[in-house]
Amino acid sequence: METELKQFEAAARRDHALLRDAQGLELWRVKYLSRKGQLARVMAKLSSVPSADRARMGQLANAVKQRLFNLGRSLPNASASVGKSTSKMAASLPGREAAVGHYHPLTLVTRLIVEIFRSMGYEVVFGPEVEHTKYNFDLLNIPDDHPARDLWDTFYIEGAPDMVLRTHTSPVQLRSMETRKPPVRLIAPGRVFRHEATDASHESTLTQFEGLVIDQSVRLTDLFGTVNDFLTELFGQAVVTRHRPSFFPFVEPGAEIIMRCTICNGKGCPTCGRTGWLEMGGQGMVHPTVLKNMGLDPKKYSGFAFGFGIERLMMLLYRIPDIRLTLSGDLRFTTQFTAL
Ligand code: FA5
Repeated sequence: METELKQFEAAARRDHALLRDAQGLELWRVKYLSRKGQLARVMAKLSSVPSADRARMGQLANAVKQRLFNLGRSLPNASASVGKSTSKMAASLPGREAAVGHYHPLTLVTRLIVEIFRSMGYEVVFGPEVEHTKYNFDLLNIPDDHPARDLWDTFYIEGAPDMVLRTHTSPVQLRSMETRKPPVRLIAPGRVFRHEATDASHESTLTQFEGLVIDQSVRLTDLFGTVNDFLTELFGQAVVTRHRPSFFPFVEPGAEIIMRCTICNGKGCPTCGRTGWLEMGGQGMVHPTVLKNMGLDPKKYSGFAFGFGIERLMMLLYRIPDIRLTLSGDLRFTTQFTAL
C-alpha cells in the first residue's frame, strides 16, 4: 500500500504540473480528490491493510491527501511564481487591460441624428468648411453689404476676399441642388465657425446639421411635424419645444426651435442664460428667391429647411452644463459618455 500511495502521489503531481487553466484544475480535482476519485479508491484499501500497519498507513495516506489538497488550491505557475524568486514573471497574474478607445459625445449624438434621418429616408451629404461667399451668403439671399450678413460673425480669409470659414451649414443646400432634382430629402452635418465670444452655450467652432426637403406641395406643417418627430425620437417624450417666429433671409416664414433646458428643467441656469429655454436651431420654408437660385420654379416647387446646433442637442441629451468642455480634449470629460 505504501508503494501504491507513493505512485499515486507522483502521478497526481505530474498531472498537476501540466495544468494551464482553472477548468483543467477542476478536472484534476475531480479525477484525484473527489468522493469517487482515485484518492478515495486508495483510501478504501486501508480496511484490508493488516491491523498492525493500519495506523501508520492511515497517517501516510492522510499526509498524501493533505499535500494533494494543498496542491489543488492553485495552478502550477502561480505556486512557481510565488515560490521562486528567480523568476520575474508571474504568468498567472491577470494582464493589464488594454485601454479601449471610444467615441466623443458629439460623435455619438451626430451618429444618432444621422440614424434617425436615414430611417426617415434622408440622404446624408457634406460640404466644404472653407466656403465661397457665393454659397455662404449670396445664393442664400444675403447680398453683399446687406445688414443681414451681420447675423453671422464671420472669419474671413486674408488674401482671399471671396472665401470664408462657413458660418453655417446652409450653403450645402445650394451646393446639393446643383446636382439634384426634386424630390430631395437630405441632411448635411458638419463643422462651422463664428468669430464670437464664448460662454456656457456659445463656441467659436461648432457643429450643425442642415435639413432640406424639396418637392411639390411641401407645407409648413410638414416642417413642424418632421422637427417634432425628430426631437421626440432623439429625446423621447420628455421634450418641451417652442417654434418662435424669427428672421432668416433664406426662409419665409422662419422660426427658431427652442427647447426647455433639461439642465435646470426650465428654472433658469447659466447654460440657458437663466431663461429656462435654449435655442436649438432655425427653420422655415425655403424662400422663393433661394428656390430660383437652385434653378427651380417656386410656383411648382416648395420646400423646407432647418439647421440645428449639435452641441446644444448634446448638452441637453447628456446634461452637459458648459459647451466649452466639448473641445477641451480633457479625457475626464470625453470618457464619461456611452451611446444613448
Ligand atoms: C443658422 O445658422 C441658420 N443657418 C439655421 C437655419 C437653417 C435657419 C435653415 C433656417 C433654415 P443660427 O445662427 O441661429 O441659424 O444657428 C443655428 C443653431 O446653431 C442655433 O440655434 C444654435 O443651436 C447653434 N449655434 C449658433 N451659434 C452657436 C454658437 N456660437 N455656439 C454653439 N451653438 C451655436
